[in-house]
Amino acid sequence: MSEVQVFVTAERLSEKYQGMSEQEMVERVRALKEELKDELVILSHHYQRDEVYQFADFTGDSLKLARQAAEQKDKKFIVFCGVHFMAETADILTGDEQIVVLPDMKAGCSMADMATLEQVEEAWEYFVDSLGDTFTPITYVNSTAAIKSFCGQHHGMTCTSSNAEKVFRHAYQQKERILFLPDEHLGRNTAVKLGIPEHHMAVWNPETGELEGVKGSLEDIRIILWKGYCSVHLKFTPEHVKRVRENDPEMKVIVHPECRHDVVKLADDNGSTEYIIKQIEQAPPGSRWAIGTEVNLVQRLAKQHPDKKIVLLNDMICPCLTMNRIDLPHLLWSLESYCEGQVINRIQVSDEIAEQAVLALDRMLKIG
Ligand code: 13P
Ligand code: SF4
Repeated sequence: MSEVQVFVTAERLSEKYQGMSEQEMVERVRALKEELKDELVILSHHYQRDEVYQFADFTGDSLKLARQAAEQKDKKFIVFCGVHFMAETADILTGDEQIVVLPDMKAGCSMADMATLEQVEEAWEYFVDSLGDTFTPITYVNSTAAIKSFCGQHHGMTCTSSNAEKVFRHAYQQKERILFLPDEHLGRNTAVKLGIPEHHMAVWNPETGELEGVKGSLEDIRIILWKGYCSVHLKFTPEHVKRVRENDPEMKVIVHPECRHDVVKLADDNGSTEYIIKQIEQAPPGSRWAIGTEVNLVQRLAKQHPDKKIVLLNDMICPCLTMNRIDLPHLLWSLESYCEGQVINRIQVSDEIAEQAVLALDRMLKIG
């Protein structure tokens, strides 16, 4: 690659790729991977399209990918095929000289945008005024770096869907209450697993600035859940689970814990994307599964396990549109531009934010 690097944030894919055949793009990516093999690593989340996923050096759920990013000490160029908050996390956990790129800047996460720093600061002040210094703030990694930084600064931490229980347990050894953001549903599902009754939970609505669902006295609250959600996982409903039970009582239902609690309660099992993959891999041939998570992963599992019946829990479900923004042309564009000395769509968290955010991430990584 060229010695001089220019960093560019690009709104639109270069037109150069519009008339290129898929085969040509596949061959070019393959060749560029070979050419850059000493400095490049491609990380891919399980929700990515197959056309991109096939080129990953490492795949994983959010936790596994964060760990992988932190371990890539000898790779200068990290292409993150996932969404914005994941690439930010990778940038925070890697060195200043390492370059993290998100092939399409429009690959955000709508849930992560449901908690802004201003909203969180305002809410925090209100909670501390009402209930004192009794809260540990925990943010799901599906949040902006600024929110992670807030948690780091206030002795809190991050969690993912695969370690939320452990992180909550740890937090309750520190303080009697948790503020969990931005996913109400992962928060409730995790608190229920820890045996916290629903009447000890309340929901903070950042739009109205009101605490909803308070059943008794404020003092009884053990966890405040931020009213945020994943629009993909909210499309799975209890009716979908009931339909599976009626049509095929032997079919197992497994869902992601971003689903509503009434769905998780009816399902046979729930867990992160990595956990879902493991359960399917370990299942006996002939077993039948309805899976409640993003469609790319479910379709890939169905292809990889032709000896098992695998269906989407809601067959009308749409994919995660932002995850799907990363496609073969964008991946190729990232690699080619880098080789030409122009780095497109670098993700760079400011030192000021990263300094505190890394505290929240490190605390989580230590817990497990
Ligand atoms: P996982 O960490 O389970 O892969 O989940 C990430 C995500 O965004 C799910 O919607
Ligand atoms: Fe965000 Fe939901 Fe997409 Fe996951 S599936 S990246 S939570 S919008």
